[in-house]
Amino acid sequence: MAAEQPTATTRPRPAPGSAAGDATAVAHPNIALVKYWGKRDEQLVLPWTDSLSMTLDVFPTTTRVRLDPGAGEDTVTLDGAPLEGEPRRRVTAFLDLVRERAGSPLRAVVDTRNTVPTGAGLASSASGFAALATAADAAYGLGLDATGLSRLARRGSGSASRSVFGGFAIWHAGQPDRGGDPDLGSYAEPVPVPVAALDPALVVAVVDAGPKAVSSREAMRRTVATSPLYRPWAASSQADLAEMREALRRADLDAVGEVAERNALGMHATMLAARPAVRYLSAATLTVLDAVLELRRAGVSAWATMDAGPNVKVLCRRSEADRVAGVVREAVRGGSVHIAGPGPAARLRDADA
Ligand code: PMV
Repeated sequence: MAAEQPTATTRPRPAPGSAAGDATAVAHPNIALVKYWGKRDEQLVLPWTDSLSMTLDVFPTTTRVRLDPGAGEDTVTLDGAPLEGEPRRRVTAFLDLVRERAGSPLRAVVDTRNTVPTGAGLASSASGFAALATAADAAYGLGLDATGLSRLARRGSGSASRSVFGGFAIWHAGQPDRGGDPDLGSYAEPVPVPVAALDPALVVAVVDAGPKAVSSREAMRRTVATSPLYRPWAASSQADLAEMREALRRADLDAVGEVAERNALGMHATMLAARPAVRYLSAATLTVLDAVLELRRAGVSAWATMDAGPNVKVLCRRSEADRVAGVVREAVRGGSVHIAGPGPAARLRDADA
């Protein structure tokens, strides 16, 4: 039988700065301006709706994957400490998927360094699985292209599919129940945006860096199963996406912010209406939301978005970000405030760089 020809998505790619079986990758978190909330397939991590995000230039995750021919199981460390329980299981299950595709039985040593507060609704899982997918792809020699990497990262954490790309990215839900392989239709890709004209920044207000009480996985499951607001939000989110793309194309920051804020508040409304309710927003969150309203009343373009945690990301112009950060800093008292711009795509790099 003839050997299978490599295709565009399977051709092994030389891994810059990485020896065979050893690769290090860096990836950045992303913040969705039109949210992903709810899976139609938990196993394949297929969402009900499309989503759109900006990758940040802060809080990178660096992950090294080194194959260990002598090992009977994977070793996984996060910031130098062994990962245990469910977080470890998610990483080993992800590596099992890579091994199955690579036809390799080899276990790996995975060392991850996070600079984002883990589990605080700041998308550490997005940068984490985008970095892991990029490093594991190179270490196991899968040779995936960016689309393939995005599909792979998606299996670790849905939002990670978008962190494979820099700047702005849209994650396609894929067509439900149209036959064929549903995995193939659901991936992210870059959205062309006139970034200089838009001049976007996200002021990140960390009001609580502790881990969240309810995982996004569980919260989504409960929302989809029990919230009477879920379906209306999902429908309006598709309309938000169309409006968002148009606003980005026009570099209309106020329109981008207005859609982003209402989409996020709507997502949280679906959770508040779940049974029992999931509430990530805290008193400190509402204090920041009040500050954002005050900024708008004072003529500053500032719009808020929140994910699966109490922290607030305020979209504004880069040229006004210091002023926005100052007002937000006053409001959070004790929390930390960071200014982020559009960040780079996930990439391989030297292990000791
Ligand atoms: O990738 P996950 O399972 O952690 O989902 C997180 C989803 C949100 O961050 C709340 C929204 C989004 O689109 O990133």
